[in-house]
Amino acid sequence: MTRSSASAPVPLEQRRFDVVVFGATGFTGRLVAEYFAAHAAETGVRWAIAGRSMDKLEAVRRELATKNGALHELPILIADSHDVSALDRLVSETRVVCTTVGPYAKYGIDLARAAARHGTSYCDLTGEPTFVRAVIDECHDIARGTQARIVNCAGYDSIPSDLGAHMAWDHANRTHGEGLSWVKVFTGRTKGAASGGTIASAFGLMEAASKSREVRKLLLDPHALDPNEGDTSEPARSRDPFEADQRGVRFDEDLGRWTAPFVMASINTRVVRRSHALLREEGGGYGQRFHYNEAMSFQPGPRGLVTASVVTATIGGFFAAAALPPMRHLLERFVLPAPGEGPSREAIDKGFFEMHVLAETESGKRLRGRVAGTKDPGYGETAKMLSESAMCLAMDGPRLEPRFGVLTPATAMGMRLVERLRAAGMTFDVHDA
Ligand SMILES: NC(=O)c1ccc[n+]([C@@H]2O[C@H](COP(=O)([O-])OP(=O)(O)OC[C@H]3O[C@@H](n4cnc5c(N)ncnc54)[C@H](OP(=O)(O)O)[C@@H]3O)[C@@H](O)[C@H]2O)c1
Repeated sequence: MTRSSASAPVPLEQRRFDVVVFGATGFTGRLVAEYFAAHAAETGVRWAIAGRSMDKLEAVRRELATKNGALHELPILIADSHDVSALDRLVSETRVVCTTVGPYAKYGIDLARAAARHGTSYCDLTGEPTFVRAVIDECHDIARGTQARIVNCAGYDSIPSDLGAHMAWDHANRTHGEGLSWVKVFTGRTKGAASGGTIASAFGLMEAASKSREVRKLLLDPHALDPNEGDTSEPARSRDPFEADQRGVRFDEDLGRWTAPFVMASINTRVVRRSHALLREEGGGYGQRFHYNEAMSFQPGPRGLVTASVVTATIGGFFAAAALPPMRHLLERFVLPAPGEGPSREAIDKGFFEMHVLAETESGKRLRGRVAGTKDPGYGETAKMLSESAMCLAMDGPRLEPRFGVLTPATAMGMRLVERLRAAGMTFDVHDA
């Protein structure tokens, strides 16, 4: 590992690029590069691809140029994720760095630190609460000082949840002039798959949890990402039954459907609660006693009960098996996709997702909303969400709140990102119930 440079940040107006896509050779990084190739020119975004291997990046560039000859000249930057000097140079060349180099707990922290030091805004696709906590602890104050917006979880985890809750609050505020008592988000019809990088990230987290009590404690804390995490003056917050992680099958009376635990709730719920907590620090927040939770949902009748039970048992069985290192090794080796692999283009195009948003205002008015996408959520829609986040951070600065540090998608970009994602074909809809 090389040492970091202590020189003053290069002024933003002197930087060569608006966005650098770091990890453009990976499964998701290639999709992000394709999204930029298709949309950057129309909005005047100056961009480049980056990674650790010139040969692989040149192959990505050749592939991009088959659809748009001008991309033969697309700039390439080289940095290994552990080479701090190279990362310092990389983040000094751009106003925003957008990274798909994961597992983030393994490869991510030096880039987040470099971005915070150099006042470079940053977005990523992590779903690892331990990594986000480390970024908050190490980078929040520094990024505030340099006026960088550091945004974790800007993909399927956790944008639909975070912006779904934010959109409900925005509606309650504008239409009724009040805050929210609670928001619940439920997955609806969804079709998608996982890539090798995502599996590697999930297994990395399981391994860390198996070795460390601190990691297990953090993963179980519903407010693990709050600014005041570890503040024992609010002991009741971790025992709030509304915010307890769902463990089994339940019928949700407000939704009128059977529900089951959602794997990604372990990050999404923490991100939404961080959004609320960050706004509360400024004297706002989603409501005086705001609560948030989420789950998977199924049909209302006996069929829904059976499906919810089977899904719960299957996921429980998978994680119980994967908790054992030899089983994890076998799954990685013979069953699951390896790093760099993922669903086919056809499967990505045939995928989709929807999420139901339910909310109650402080005076008891009910709201209903929907967040949906028309491609595989973890890849087609994730590439869109991450790319639009990066473009939003780079191009929409004057329309964003003057808020800096380690933020969430909602607190960094809020309704501006909702507008962008709607324009890019996603559904964000909310109305009085
Ligand atoms: N939030 C979401 O919804 C969501 C969705 C999809 C993915 N993800 C996350 O995104 C991450 C990437 O997933 P993926 O499937 O795209 O992974 P992948 O295909 O394995 O790609 C990993 C990328 O990291 C690069 N890399 C690895 N080590 C590096 C190093 N030392 N220095 C610089 N670059 C390095 C690889 O470069 P080489 O090509 O040179 O090896 C490659 O570009 C994972 O953490 C995954 O969990 C999240």
